[in-house]
Amino acid sequence: MSTQDPPSPPLNWFAARIADAFRKHYQTPATVVAAAPGRVNIIGEHVDYNGGWVLPAAIERWIVAAAAPREDGVVALHDDRTGETANFLVTELGRTPQRSWSNYVRGVLAGFTALGLQLPGFSLTISSTIPLGGGLSSSAALEAVVARILGQLFGWETTPLQLAKLCQRAEHDYAGVPCGLMDQAAVLMSREAHLLLLDCATEAVSFVPFSNPDWQILIINSGVAHELADGEYAKRRAACHQAASTLGVKSLRELDSSCLPGIGRILNEEMNRCVRHVLTENERTIQAVAAFGRNDLLEVGRLLNASHASLRDDYRVSCAELDFIAATTQQIEGVAGCRMTGGGFGGSAVALVQSAVIKSVSNTVTSDFAARYGRSPEIFVTRPAAGAIAWSILQEEIL
Ligand code: GLA
Repeated sequence: MSTQDPPSPPLNWFAARIADAFRKHYQTPATVVAAAPGRVNIIGEHVDYNGGWVLPAAIERWIVAAAAPREDGVVALHDDRTGETANFLVTELGRTPQRSWSNYVRGVLAGFTALGLQLPGFSLTISSTIPLGGGLSSSAALEAVVARILGQLFGWETTPLQLAKLCQRAEHDYAGVPCGLMDQAAVLMSREAHLLLLDCATEAVSFVPFSNPDWQILIINSGVAHELADGEYAKRRAACHQAASTLGVKSLRELDSSCLPGIGRILNEEMNRCVRHVLTENERTIQAVAAFGRNDLLEVGRLLNASHASLRDDYRVSCAELDFIAATTQQIEGVAGCRMTGGGFGGSAVALVQSAVIKSVSNTVTSDFAARYGRSPEIFVTRPAAGAIAWSILQEEIL
């Protein structure tokens, strides 16, 4: 979709549609609806698992789900986009060898079981407007929507941080990605019109206002499906941990860039590159928060550009398409900065763009990308959205 197309459907319309799809599929009304957004990380990349600071926001793209309890101990799943279904017993919570979205559901259920909660059965229908493999945390959104649905269905009280950790565990154990906490925290804890600042060492959360009408967040999906489970993500994470242990610190968070000249000879080339990225990225994130506070979006943009260079050259998690998007977008008048966002190896870039030129910037990026790669990237604007929510529905609302 380009920015000229109609915007993503409003959430309440989308929720009503999913409740309707549920009723048609299961021939009974849903009692609960939930929505979980995707996320874009503004800055603070590949530092969450190093105890660093991250600055993501939820986006105006969602996974929505409708559900109702069942008494036969069965979990029935239905994807309204693909028609795909899966059924299993609530006691069968092992990971299935097939790549199936039911693994995320099983993972979240296993997390609730570990909390000692009794699991009755339920039926669930989902749909989504978050691009799959776009680096916008569709998997964290799926975990979060299921966690919220279950909390609402069965009256389970948990804090958002507890839920985020439960979802992170599901991602580790059931998707095989040893991720940090950023995505699940952003998807569950974000606030409208704010960026979420998470200190991954202390797990303290604060909010940075982002509602300046002169600037917009533009997301450019390269269309290269990123695949973090393929092992490069885990390798970077391992290199960082090995570097921390070689340097005798618990995590790289304990160091800053003034150490870099001194540690160069202690670490091998791979560890040096990873450490250089992590230490400088932590500093850029703190500087970006200060620049947002001064409303200095040009400085934020400069930091975004530096972040991209560091991810490309030192951390080596970008790809040709993302480098092309970042390089071309950074040069356009009215763009403060642009960088890859999320885990990398494909997925999306994020740019801060002056509102007055958002359409022409989108058009230029689209045509430059199409001239180079023979296809259009998916481009859309988002405001920072609220985190995942669930609510009960009255029958008359959905009939
Ligand atoms: C993925 C992971 C996150 C984080 C980012 C990189 O999105 O799920 O925990 O590590 O990559 O910043």
